Amino acid sequence: MENRELDIDGRSRVVVGDAQHELARLLPECRVVAISDGNIDRCHHELLAPFADVILIGTGETVKTLETAASIHRELIRRGADRATFLLGVGGGIVTDIAGFVASTYMRGVRFGFVSTTLLGNVDASVGGKNGVNVDGFKNMVGTFNQPQFVVCDTSLFATLPDREFRAGLAEALKTGIIGDAELFERIERSTFAELRTRRDRIDEIVMRSVRLKTAIVGRDECEHGERRKLNLGHTFGHAIEKCSRTMNHGEAVAAGLLIAARMAVRSGLLAQAACSRIEDTLVRLGFDPVSPVPMSQLLEAVRSDKKAEDGSIRLVLPTAIGSCEVRRLSLDALERLAESL
Ligand SMILES: NC(=O)c1ccc[n+]([C@@H]2O[C@H](COP(=O)([O-])OP(=O)(O)OC[C@H]3O[C@@H](n4cnc5c(N)ncnc54)[C@H](O)[C@@H]3O)[C@@H](O)[C@H]2O)c1
Repeated sequence: MENRELDIDGRSRVVVGDAQHELARLLPECRVVAISDGNIDRCHHELLAPFADVILIGTGETVKTLETAASIHRELIRRGADRATFLLGVGGGIVTDIAGFVASTYMRGVRFGFVSTTLLGNVDASVGGKNGVNVDGFKNMVGTFNQPQFVVCDTSLFATLPDREFRAGLAEALKTGIIGDAELFERIERSTFAELRTRRDRIDEIVMRSVRLKTAIVGRDECEHGERRKLNLGHTFGHAIEKCSRTMNHGEAVAAGLLIAARMAVRSGLLAQAACSRIEDTLVRLGFDPVSPVPMSQLLEAVRSDKKAEDGSIRLVLPTAIGSCEVRRLSLDALERLAESL
């Protein structure tokens, strides 16, 4: 495999490699407080053991709140963390989203980095400097754009990841392929779930390709004024599903959202039916049930209140082929008509 280290504008390094080895190289010589969750402490205690200060949070989307962030702020104060303290988030997207937010707000911002422990975190959540928390069920309503100094993606840690969580990460990797890397899509399309689960070389390649596309897009449009919006493919309806139902995790909701976006693209004359069928077939073959557990009428209600809805319109990301997509501004009424046509 080629270079396993990428960066965003020279500011945020993303390294695919062994976490303990890379941390020895990347961590600054200062006090480090690790933020993680109970599953990581149980399955990968070796990652947290070197640190005198470890703050553990609960698990699941319901802990990604201002209350959890505030409890970490208080714990940092109690332990005397100061502006020179480095915060290390060790975990999946929930831990890194919260740890990045806490680091961005504690004492107006302290340095931070991540060890990303889930496939979803490796290919998407830990990379790119978006962090934040949900408020009253509204996804990622409060947060900042702020780059971690480094992200270590260690695919060996997936050995303890439940199949369901591993599969969730494949949805985001597939999304990345649809957005801008047809070969990434094809590599996933041509593999069985079992192969992806067990072949480290294949998953390393998928992580690397996903990180390469994401760091390139974020490097060009860090604060999502334009091109970065493409990374939200499948998320308009994915977030709506997460808001209305607890039955799907983030990746599963994105999988269902991807299929809705692909079908809308076909209806809009942007995407060939054959490409849409490839997306659906791949999702089903990987073990997803990409059908929203929530009726479309309820999803549309949730989309109306999404933070990305502006002045009665929404920017919808629609695939135009495997490997390309475009962002269209649609009125909420037009979106409703499109949804009714599905
Ligand atoms: N900031 C961004 O740009 C961005 C992008 C995509 C997704 N996200 C966010 O990421 C979150 C989802 O992240 P996720 O899918 O990583 O979920 P997660 O952090 O909840 O992790 C999934 C589960 O696996 C456990 N776990 C993590 N690593 C493990 C390991 N190596 N072995 C065993 N168990 C392990 C966790 O404790 C948790 O129970 C969502 O809140 C989503 O909104 C953020």
